[in-house]
Amino acid sequence: MKVATHNLRCTECGAVITGDAVNSIFRCPDCNGLYDVIYPWSPNGTTAISNSNLPNPSALRWLWQERRTSTLPIDQSGVWRFRDLFPIVENPENIVTLREGNTPLYQMPQCAKAVGLDSLFAKHQGMNPTGSFKDTGMTAALSVAADRKFEWVACASTGNTSAAMAAYAARAGLRSIVFIPEGKIAWGKLSQSMDYGALTIQLKTDFDGCVRILTELVTRFPIYLLNSVNPYRLEGQKTPAFEMLEQLDWEVPDHIIVPGGNLANGAALGKGFIEMHHLGLIPRMPKISIIQAEGANPLYRWFTDANRIMRPVKADTRATAIRIGNPASWRKSANVIDALGGWCEQASEQEIALAKAQIGAEGVGCEPASAVTFAGLKKLVALGKVSPEERVVLILTGHTLKDSQYTIDYHRGELLTEAEKSQISDADQAQHTALRKPPIVLEADSDVVLHALQSHMKMTQHA
Ligand code: F0G
Repeated sequence: MKVATHNLRCTECGAVITGDAVNSIFRCPDCNGLYDVIYPWSPNGTTAISNSNLPNPSALRWLWQERRTSTLPIDQSGVWRFRDLFPIVENPENIVTLREGNTPLYQMPQCAKAVGLDSLFAKHQGMNPTGSFKDTGMTAALSVAADRKFEWVACASTGNTSAAMAAYAARAGLRSIVFIPEGKIAWGKLSQSMDYGALTIQLKTDFDGCVRILTELVTRFPIYLLNSVNPYRLEGQKTPAFEMLEQLDWEVPDHIIVPGGNLANGAALGKGFIEMHHLGLIPRMPKISIIQAEGANPLYRWFTDANRIMRPVKADTRATAIRIGNPASWRKSANVIDALGGWCEQASEQEIALAKAQIGAEGVGCEPASAVTFAGLKKLVALGKVSPEERVVLILTGHTLKDSQYTIDYHRGELLTEAEKSQISDADQAQHTALRKPPIVLEADSDVVLHALQSHMKMTQHA
């Protein structure tokens, strides 16, 4: 008899179903709640699946380390290397991998100094194959789609999920449909979904409208939904928590800062830490704080509302990846903030622009949505929620080339409106001035170039 490796549990009413019994919209038919994947060893898990014991923490650490030297594609993947903690695919030959994960954990000394911390790390998930953290979740959920023999997969996206889905679908030989809000995603991301051969549909609505249409569509056509309501996405997205701990020699950081859009990523990382703690891989858990853009801040509003009521907003921000007003996974992320003792903050357009330039000036770079983490960290330090000696990790979710237009507009001084610029404090304005590096157009004459270089050196010396 085949024994199920996992079940799905509704995060609202607690109902437990088998993985293959889930409906096409991944919502509980009784209460509309989202599901979590649970295993026999999960915290509050069910022993009804099988009687296996808790995985042994030292054996797991050894095994994960050992796989780094293997040439097997699933061992080389920085997601599937940790597959012992998400056995979701029945036939391992259906796993679709582009060697995702294995992303760097950078020291950020200049940013640490700017915010008054002794040290600061950035886990750069933009260094994944399609340039964003979405690859870690997509490899997991798309492998389940392939395992369950779906022909079509689809997602609604602000650009990064669609790029990842299109790439992994192409690798698996599945057909993919992308729904994106017309004119409201960065060009690089749109080009990726076309490059990887997806059917790309630009809907005349926003992200939240795209989700609505796709949710209707999957009930009428056998398409596998790959938005983050699909709980298998989160199983892949929890693995950077494991990888980060390896990179820190298993010394638990104090605080993880995550950008918040549809609010699955904070939930996924939280699940990863909670499971590691439960299994005895780590002795304590970090706090997880989530930062939103001021113009797309429903979780921030919920967090600061005395009655804690979630009210969707009409979203607007230049950080298009997180331009989301009605986040599907808000409850999961809210639970993680509460369970791990984190915070929620928001960052204005000006603050996001400055934070992104500072991360860029460190030679790391990221897309605007990722920069909210550093902007939010400044606020958490000012509020006393993070103290100077704490070990903080920013989760940078997207590569700087994802939205090069934003960067070019910033350095040319064309990103912010005059009204927005007028609200910048003198201290921040001085930082913007020092960071902005607009391109200089010159005649192709070495005298002219030398003269320009000398005056630039003089100017920066006095700055
Ligand atoms: N950062 C980037 C670069 C993103 O693309 C997203 C989400 C987030 C942060 C927020 O993560 O939704 O889990 O809270 N992008 C989705 C997309 C919505 O369609 O690519 P989240």
